[in-house]
Amino acid sequence: MSAARFGDLLDRALGLDPKSIGLSAIERAVETRIKACNLKNDDDYWELLRHSRDEVQELIEAVIVPETWFFRDPPAYAAMVGFFLKRVMKGNPSRQQRLLSLPCSTGEEPYTMGMALLDAGVPASRFRVDAIDVSARSLMRARRGIYGRNSFRSKDVAFRERHFQSTEAGYRVNDTVREPVHFRQGNIVDPSLLLGAEPYDIIFCRNLLIYFDTRTQNRTLSLLRGLLAPDGMLFVGHAEAGLMAANGFASAKLPMAFAFLKALAQPVESKAEPATPRSPSSVKPARDRALPAKPSTPVVTSQIAQPAKPGPGLEELRRIADGGRLGEAAQGCEVHIREFGPSPDVFLLMGLIRDAAGDPTGAINYYRKVLYLEPTSSEALHHLALLLKKQGDHLGARLLEERLQRREKRRSR
Ligand SMILES: C[S@@+](CC[C@H](N)C(=O)[O-])C[C@H]1O[C@@H](n2cnc3c(N)ncnc32)[C@H](O)[C@@H]1O
Repeated sequence: MSAARFGDLLDRALGLDPKSIGLSAIERAVETRIKACNLKNDDDYWELLRHSRDEVQELIEAVIVPETWFFRDPPAYAAMVGFFLKRVMKGNPSRQQRLLSLPCSTGEEPYTMGMALLDAGVPASRFRVDAIDVSARSLMRARRGIYGRNSFRSKDVAFRERHFQSTEAGYRVNDTVREPVHFRQGNIVDPSLLLGAEPYDIIFCRNLLIYFDTRTQNRTLSLLRGLLAPDGMLFVGHAEAGLMAANGFASAKLPMAFAFLKALAQPVESKAEPATPRSPSSVKPARDRALPAKPSTPVVTSQIAQPAKPGPGLEELRRIADGGRLGEAAQGCEVHIREFGPSPDVFLLMGLIRDAAGDPTGAINYYRKVLYLEPTSSEALHHLALLLKKQGDHLGARLLEERLQRREKRRSR
């Protein structure tokens, strides 16, 4: 089967870089859909896609990565609460704050935003969370609001007692948490998405940009700049922090929160090409469209300065990396190793830095070092699997994913 044309279609429909999930994953999705539609081969399926928007959506459902859980990266939620409270005290306390979770996947992220604020004593009437995702299936699960153990992967799950009811089907999120969260379907590459919406005070756009090609990353960040209030805060995933400085955002300097402000940064010249509507419903297969070329990305310098005094600690180095100063953070990590010796934490950070700097080979080396010292590190397993997939090593990626699943199963017992 020629998976390339389907990858190309998904690139146009979603902004998805086919390399990020691998052509064989796309092939598997296409094969599943061929079976489900009772068709003979991929040419017949291609023909169906040309005429059916619903089928384009079905293919999207088959390839998306809905991976998420409650309180994923807790420092981000702590930073969000701190920012929210300061902002309310500074501004009009009766104004309802507007929050956005895009993509929200199966709802764990927007419900966590709600839980974190309620736990800080903020009444539900004081905020609204708009939660958007391209996947209708994920949104159905989000609205249903019943979750299994896989959604509770954070170390501390005390919040489950406060905000969920245990039912036979799983843990059902309480109505107080549901009330301020409003789900809707939307595609971030559709330029009419949220057109004319009031600005948001807080935006979470985490773990989506990593799946995009560079052009779509730039476009998306330009859209988010427009949606964010002048003094609002944007949260991204840790592997995405390195994209921010070049797109008009400055780090909020909150350790491990991957939080950014636009107020402090110089607005960038729009790097995005003129937007063309690309909602799944408007996309049809095209014949000969080349994939966009990736511009070269900076590589972390390997020149290490000799320290005259003890270097910064790991927390500080994470903050430096979070702020986009990747070269400085990488040098700091080398110094840290010389002072304190190698550790899984420092190797993980070095991997993330290489990853963010667009150096997958370097990142892979460091993630492997983490796993050598700590074979069950879920972060290293997850990132390494993603990179191997991008490089076309699907078997390697699958083995790591299986390891990750076994680890999660053991943890949830
Ligand atoms: C890995 S999940 C991230 C969920 C959550 N933000 C988190 O960090 O836990 C990625 C989500 O992106 C959604 N997605 C992919 N492409 C999208 C697009 N073009 N527009 C909106 N959502 C998209 C997928 O449906 C999936 O639910």
